[in-house]
Amino acid sequence: MFKKTLLAIALGGTIVSAAQAGEVEVLHWWTSGGEAKSIAVLKDMVQDAGHTWVDSAIAGGGGDSAMTVLRSRAVSGNAPGSAQIKGPAIQEWGDLGFLADLSSVAEANNWDGVLPPVVSDVMKHNGVYVAAPVNVHRVNWMWANKKVFDDNGLTPPTSMKELWAVSAKLEKAGIIPIAHGGQPWQDATTFEDIVLSVGGAEFFNKAFVNLDMASIQSKTMIESFEQFRKIKAYTDKGAPGRDWNVATGMVIKGEAAMQFMGDWAKGEFSAAGKMPGKDYYCLPFPGTEGEYTFNIDSLVMFEQRDAENQKAQMKMAELVLSPKFQDVFNMNKGSIPVRLDQDMSGFDSCAQASMDTFKATSKSGTGLVPSMAHGMATYPAISGAIGDVVTNFFNSDMSADDAVVKLANAIKASM
Ligand code: BGC
Repeated sequence: MFKKTLLAIALGGTIVSAAQAGEVEVLHWWTSGGEAKSIAVLKDMVQDAGHTWVDSAIAGGGGDSAMTVLRSRAVSGNAPGSAQIKGPAIQEWGDLGFLADLSSVAEANNWDGVLPPVVSDVMKHNGVYVAAPVNVHRVNWMWANKKVFDDNGLTPPTSMKELWAVSAKLEKAGIIPIAHGGQPWQDATTFEDIVLSVGGAEFFNKAFVNLDMASIQSKTMIESFEQFRKIKAYTDKGAPGRDWNVATGMVIKGEAAMQFMGDWAKGEFSAAGKMPGKDYYCLPFPGTEGEYTFNIDSLVMFEQRDAENQKAQMKMAELVLSPKFQDVFNMNKGSIPVRLDQDMSGFDSCAQASMDTFKATSKSGTGLVPSMAHGMATYPAISGAIGDVVTNFFNSDMSADDAVVKLANAIKASM
């Protein structure tokens, strides 16, 4: 009898673990303080569900290094179970036939009902869900140290003109006005903020989504480059190569006054125990109030043979959309939930403002733009070509007139 019971327990145990013990390797680039805290939430939830999480974190903001590693692993037949892939790049991976079909999870959990179309459209390949959206980041933010502004009797700028006036005063007071990280994706992030400020949302979409050559070579684009050039004078000598979170740290510590960065920067303020409105300001990039540059993070699943690993992938996809994960992850990450029905009462004022503007711009259809710098507007080859021109301009004495010609040529060559 005792023997039989032992056998039953052993068999039961085997059956339970065989049904649940899948493994999922997740390739991502969330390595800063706030980012690591955020991804740990998913790891814990996957493990609590009985699966094994294998972490493949590839350092490098914006994800360029992570994508290089992913491509080389995929071509050598060693793709991870899951990876952070965003925007139109999802279509490229889908076309190559790498991605697992998530429709069973999507249907069982009513993804079509809870996601706004601006999010769900990006997650589907030929009408089938192949990616699970994690969050919505707003890119066009300005982060400012409140004490620095208060001590100098200044208010944060709300237009490009005010930005230059405030920066000149801060510089005179011996403070670094703008904490910048001189890496191509960070240059592109600041540049796209300026294009939105100078040209507005309609212009932004014409230039970066429709790739309309008249807009690319327009006076507005020349003006955007000229304004972009002015940023340089208000950054410090240490800017080249600096990581974005180090730049955020300068604002947190009051070594610099402002940073222009998406709201993953808020994850760093939160991780440092700082409060919006008390320690820092989260405000739209000057001149972009009421506009929203969106950047949606998402996880795709690479097709796997092993049935247990497939179960682990589907479980993870389900967890990503769960209200609990959406709540805790996004509070740490600085972003907002992707679910329209999510209770926002526990979120801070920055996230609430972000959600309000996201909903308003999605509803009206005006003011909402996909981030070019974060791979939401075009295929990677095109945004990469735009980014190269932007960085070359910023780091040389190229004229704005030359820059728009180079921009047009680079886009044509990459299409
Ligand atoms: C991603 C964010 C990430 C940031 C910095 C962006 O492209 O969407 O999730 O925090 O890069 O690495």
